[in-house]
Amino acid sequence: MKIVVLTGAGISAESGLPTFRGAGGLWNGVRAETLATPEAFADNPQRVLDFYNFRRAMVREAAPNAAHQAIAALERHHPVSVVTQNVDNLHERAGSTDVLHVHGEIMLARSSRNPGLKVPMQDQDIRLGDLADDGAQLRPDVVWFGEAVRHIDESLDRIREADRFLVVGTSLQVWPVADWVHHATRAGERVIIAPELRTCPDHFEWICGTACDEVPPIMSRWARSALAD
Ligand code: APR
Repeated sequence: MKIVVLTGAGISAESGLPTFRGAGGLWNGVRAETLATPEAFADNPQRVLDFYNFRRAMVREAAPNAAHQAIAALERHHPVSVVTQNVDNLHERAGSTDVLHVHGEIMLARSSRNPGLKVPMQDQDIRLGDLADDGAQLRPDVVWFGEAVRHIDESLDRIREADRFLVVGTSLQVWPVADWVHHATRAGERVIIAPELRTCPDHFEWICGTACDEVPPIMSRWARSALAD
C-alpha cells in the first residue's frame, strides 16, 4: 500500500508557525511580491534576508506537533511519502525520512548565482556579504514566486501511485501544487483536512478540523489497515 501525504502551512500552524493566507497569515497586508520574488531580492536584499531570518528563527523555536509526529509514526509501519510545500523542517524533526520540499528549505542557504551551491543554516542568519563558494551573495534556498517548483516529476509519480492520499494544511491556491490533488486517481481513499476550504476537490472526503485533531486518528487507522494487508 502506497501512502502519500501532501502538506501545507496549516500543518505547522499548531507548532506556532504562521500560515500565508487566512487569519494571521504572512501575506495579510503584505504583498508577497515585495518579499518572495527574485526581483524583491534584487531590489532590497536586506529586507528579504530579514524576512527569512525572522521566519528561520521561528522554525528553530518551533517543535513538531502531533500531526507531524503521527505521520512519522505511521512510517514505522509502512513507507510514507511526504510532499510538502513547507520550507520548515518539522516533518524531518518528527522523524519522517521521505520528504520532498517542493518550495525549498528555509534551513538551507544557497548561492544567488548557482542553486546547486548550498550551505546549511541551522543556527545562523544570512547577512549581506555572506558569500557562497562561487563568490555570490547567499540567499535562502526557498522557491520564490516565478521560480521553478522542485521535485515535480517525483511528487506526481508518488501521488499517481498512491493508494491512500492525505492532503492537510493547504488552501490549494498556489500552482502547480494545487493541481496535483487531481492526479491521485489510483487512491481508494483521498482525504483533505482543513478548518475551512473554498472547494473540496472531486472524490475527496473533507474533514473540517485541525491537523493535530484529525491527522493522528487517520494515521492510526491507516497503520492498522496496512498491517492487515
Ligand atoms: N490545521 C489544518 N489546517 C489548517 C490549520 C490547522 N491547525 N490552520 C490553518 N489551516 C489551513 C487553512 O485553513 C488554509 O487552508 O491551512 C491552509 C493554509 O493555507 P496557506 O496559508 O495558503 O498555505 P499553503 O497552502 O501552504 O500556501 C502554499 O503559498 O505563499 C506560498 O510558498 C508559499 O508554500 C506556500 C504556498
